[in-house]
Amino acid sequence: MTAQDKYAVFGNPIKHSKSPAIHAAFAEQCDQHIQYRAVRVEQGDFQRAAASFFAGGGKGLNVTLPFKQDAFAFADTVSDRARRAGAVNTLTACADGSIAGDTTDGIGLVRDMVANLGWQLQGRRIALLGAGGAVRGVLEPLLREHPKSVVIVNRTAARAAELAELFADLGAVQGGGYELLEELEVDLLINATSAGLQGEMPALPDTLLTVRSCCYDMLYGPEPTLFMRWAAQNAAWAVADGLGMLVEQAAESFYRWRQVRPATRPVINQMRNAMAAA
Ligand code: ATR
Repeated sequence: MTAQDKYAVFGNPIKHSKSPAIHAAFAEQCDQHIQYRAVRVEQGDFQRAAASFFAGGGKGLNVTLPFKQDAFAFADTVSDRARRAGAVNTLTACADGSIAGDTTDGIGLVRDMVANLGWQLQGRRIALLGAGGAVRGVLEPLLREHPKSVVIVNRTAARAAELAELFADLGAVQGGGYELLEELEVDLLINATSAGLQGEMPALPDTLLTVRSCCYDMLYGPEPTLFMRWAAQNAAWAVADGLGMLVEQAAESFYRWRQVRPATRPVINQMRNAMAAA
């Protein structure tokens, strides 16, 4: 029997990570013999733990909160999109012994919206709620779809303005406080705040959506999120949560590591069913 190639996800907390189940499903589907583990890493210990993983023959790492910046610093080379994002969620051991860093979150979001949900981004007016790492990580792939405009709004307005400036060379992007949404209509509204985790929801004007607007929450759970409920109450045309993004970013990592692209839809369905049954 051939030895299994070793992969893992590093994070803290990590107990509820769905990555091992997702990668196990991909591996089975694509007949790839891999081992994929979830590892809880202590704060301040990322560099040591990652170096030890790769020194022990590890082939690839996924990196989740709070280590995406540490992973960026750890990588010997980083992709352009990871540099833009200021974060790395995928580390790959290269043939020459170096470690390459990439981020697949943004591609995951775009692929879920475009390929799975059938939402068009080109020429659309987009608003993003939040200005943390989640937004920064997806701006480059979003802007590469050539939307008409992107507005980033955040409770701390200066963070949104800074992000808009960082990505201004890629398209029409503006950032500021929630007042930017007044008298605005959008075709696509994306929630990338963590407000829902505290049972909160930013106040949004009821004039923001049209009958053709799509609403996407990067959060997900067994029940529709607060943001999704708001969207439905405001007659959004389509509403989705971030489970598809999670599976798609994993698929992109898997592809980087194994050069095989898994079918994501059955895995999204499997994860959805598992979440409902839990
Ligand atoms: P992440 O890396 O997931 O983006 P983060 O950097 O902590 O995490 O960012 C969380 C985002 O949610 C921020 O945009 C935050 O707004 P601030 O920059 O003003 O802190 C936003 N957020 C968190 N709780 C919120 C709330 N109750 N209402 C509105 N926005 C909220």
